[in-house]
Amino acid sequence: MHLVVSPLKVRKQPLSAPATINGKEIFDLIRDDLVLLETEFERDTVSRVPVITEIGEYLRHGGGKRIRPALLLLAAKLFDYRGRGAVRLAAVVEIIHTATLVHDDIIDDAKTRRGRPAANTQWGNSKCVLAGDWLYMQAFKIAVEERNFRILDTLIELTQQMVEGELLQMETLGKLITRDDYFDLIYRKTACLFSVCMRLGAILGGATSAEEAALAKYGHDLGMAFQIVDDVLDLTASEGVLGKPVASDLREGKATMAVIHSLERCTGDERNRIETVLRQRAFNGVTHADILEILQRYGSLEAASSCAARYAKSARELICSFPDSEIKRALLWAPEFVVAREK
Ligand code: IPE
Ligand code: IPE
Ligand code: MG
Ligand code: MG
Repeated sequence: MHLVVSPLKVRKQPLSAPATINGKEIFDLIRDDLVLLETEFERDTVSRVPVITEIGEYLRHGGGKRIRPALLLLAAKLFDYRGRGAVRLAAVVEIIHTATLVHDDIIDDAKTRRGRPAANTQWGNSKCVLAGDWLYMQAFKIAVEERNFRILDTLIELTQQMVEGELLQMETLGKLITRDDYFDLIYRKTACLFSVCMRLGAILGGATSAEEAALAKYGHDLGMAFQIVDDVLDLTASEGVLGKPVASDLREGKATMAVIHSLERCTGDERNRIETVLRQRAFNGVTHADILEILQRYGSLEAASSCAARYAKSARELICSFPDSEIKRALLWAPEFVVAREK
């Protein structure tokens, strides 16, 4: 494992490094580790039971963005960590993410994920539930190799938050929810894992508790921005770009940020129209375009995007106090990528 530019070197020569960094340069910084991550992920998803290996392979090749492992690797590198643990834990967080997606697509009865049939449509729900369980346990088996109870505590707490989030969300389906309910849900679904990725990198790197807290908060804010953007894209993007059907949140009975913003402002009639779609979980009589018209009337898509941008800005500010390095610049860039992404 080696870095294109060692953070230690950059720290000694901060003025020689460029002021900004782009996606390709960030990829270059962790490219070697991302290659090792794929090998680790492949080794970790092999079972004596062939169907588990098959499902694992299908999921691995799905074209996931690997954002979570990238964050963990960057966080560890911020402290010039050079051990094998970062790649292993990067695989752990990606496997946990993968397991939650497999279970989520069963729960949501989703047919498409990452532009191709969701695993449940290929293997059926029963096998995929078990493959998801196996993946969770496999992630913990690898994490145990670190022999670090703080890491295990963090991962157990995370997994319970995510499972509780899915359950809480199920109870709100078809209903109008408040902003606070929404923020709690997206914390559990997404921001918690982003935060854990940063925290695990910090733990491996031997960060001080203040540094660890700043990075965990960075991950939280980045994750909140990520999910708010995801929810806006669900309303505005095209299926071709997104790789999953659009407006699926409304069809699954989920009120997200922009919808909640409109609900706080709209007329009784508009509220009824939104409620009808959420309750029926279908566009019967009220179309996706009708809902978009309401959202546009109240500037709700812009309001949700601004909310994501505020989280992204807060994330960037949390990184400012770290010494200058390529890795720091990568972490400053990530929030911009998250709010500008199209899929
Ligand atoms: C999908 O996350 C699940 C959400 C939190 C919205 P990603 O968009 O990171 O999924 P992949 O791994 O890149 O497909
Ligand atoms: C994603 O939740 C799954 C988790 C993060 C647990 P959603 O159901 O809201 O997201 P997509 O649209 O399926 O990716
Ligand atoms: Mg889903
Ligand atoms: Mg879901």
